[in-house]
Amino acid sequence: MVTPHWETFNQTSQEGAPLARLDTGFEELNRVWGGGLVADSFTLLGGDPGVGKSTLLLQLAGGLLKKNPPSLRILYVSGEESINQIRGRAQRLGVTKSDQLAFLSETRLESALAVVTDFQPQIIIMDSLQTFATDEVETAAGSVSQVREIAARLMNLAKTQKTAVVLVGHVTKEGAIAGPKLVEHLVDTVLYFEGDSTLNYRLLRTVKNRFGSTHELGVFEMSADGLKEVTNPSALFLNDRQMSAMGTAICCSLEGSRPLFVEMQALVSSSPLAMPRRTSVGFDSARISLLAAILERHLELRLSQHDIYFNVAGGLRISEPACDLAACAAVWSSTLGRALPHNCAFMGELGLTGEIRRISAPEIRIEEARKLGFEMVILAKGSFEKLPAIKGIKIHPIGKIQELPKFF
Ligand code: TYD
Ligand code: MG
Repeated sequence: MVTPHWETFNQTSQEGAPLARLDTGFEELNRVWGGGLVADSFTLLGGDPGVGKSTLLLQLAGGLLKKNPPSLRILYVSGEESINQIRGRAQRLGVTKSDQLAFLSETRLESALAVVTDFQPQIIIMDSLQTFATDEVETAAGSVSQVREIAARLMNLAKTQKTAVVLVGHVTKEGAIAGPKLVEHLVDTVLYFEGDSTLNYRLLRTVKNRFGSTHELGVFEMSADGLKEVTNPSALFLNDRQMSAMGTAICCSLEGSRPLFVEMQALVSSSPLAMPRRTSVGFDSARISLLAAILERHLELRLSQHDIYFNVAGGLRISEPACDLAACAAVWSSTLGRALPHNCAFMGELGLTGEIRRISAPEIRIEEARKLGFEMVILAKGSFEKLPAIKGIKIHPIGKIQELPKFF
C-alpha cells in the first residue's frame, strides 16, 4: 500500500509528537482545524439540515485531492443520497470522480467498513451520523444507542487505522432523534456550520479541538456553484451599512485568531411600560440590560423610561465582552439622536463601576481596523498602554464610560 505524504508542521500533539496534517485546499478549513486536517483525527461536523454540510465536505474532498499527492484516497459514504445524486452534485461542484475518490451510498455500517477494508482510504467522510445503523444494535438508525455505537466504532477506526474520519451530524429538534451533542465528548474536533437560510454566508465554528485552538471561525458564501471562501469577512459584514447612521457603532469581535468587525445597532424609544423592553438579536439581552443600567448611572441617560431594541447587523451572534463599548456607544448615539463618525471602531469591556476594562490582542484588532480603512479607534486605556505604535490610525484611550461624550 502506498502511503500518502502527510505534511508535518511544527505544531505538536499533546504527547509531544509532531502532528501530520493535510492541506485541505481551503484557508478557511485549514484554519478551523488548526492548520489542516490531522491524520488520524475524528471530526464531527454539526449543523442544521440544509445549511450546506454535504456541499462543504464534497468540496473538501476536491480540495484535498488537488493539494495532495496522488497516493491519497478518500471515501465519501452517504446514507442520505443515491450514488447518482452524489455524483451529480460532485460534478456540479467541479469535484470529479477519480481512482482516488470513491462514493458509496450505504446506511449499514458493516457494509461501509467492508469497503474501507477494500479501498484503504486515508480519509473517510460519513454523511450523516443519524442515517447509519450497525447490526450490533437492534434499535433504528438515529436512536441514541445507534448514534453512540456508530461514533464509537468510527473512533476506533480512526485511531487503529490512522484514518481521518469526518462525520456529519444534523442538529435536530430535541427529542426527535439523537443529535451530535451526544457524541461531542468522544471526538477530537467539533465544528459547527451555521447560517441563516435567508442569507448567503455560512459560518464554520470550532467548538472543540484537540489539535488547535477553539473559537476559530471560517466564513463561506453559498453560491450557485457551491461554497466560496470569504477571506475578508469584515468587508462583507460592513458592506451594507449606511454611513454615519444614528444608533450604530462598530465593534471588533475576536473569533479565535481572526478579528471580525460588525455593526451594532440600537434603537432607543420612550416607553409607555412600567418595565421598559430590552430586546436584542445577536447579543445577549441580559448583557444589554446590564449595560443600560451602567449607562443610566454613569452617563445619566434616562433609559429606565425607554425601550431598547438591539441588533447585530448581518444576522451574526456576538458574545465577546470586548464589544461592550460599541454596544454602549450605539445605545448612547440613539438616545442622543446623534450619529457617530463612520470611520470609528470601539474596543473595550465594561465593568459595573463604569470602568472600561482591557481587551485581549488589541494590536491584532487595530491592525485589521487600519486595513479596513477605519481612521479612529476608541480603545480601553489598559490595552492602550502596552500597545506598540501603529501608524495610519488614531487611537484614543478611554478609562471610564463617562469619558465617551468627549470624543464626539
Ligand atoms: P446541503 O449541502 O445538501 O446541506 P446539508 O448537507 O447541510 O443538509 O446543501 C443544502 C442547500 O445548499 C440546498 O438547499 C441548496 C444549496 N446549494 C447551493 O445553493 N449551491 C450549491 O452549489 C449546492 C451544492 C447547494
Ligand atoms: Mg447533507
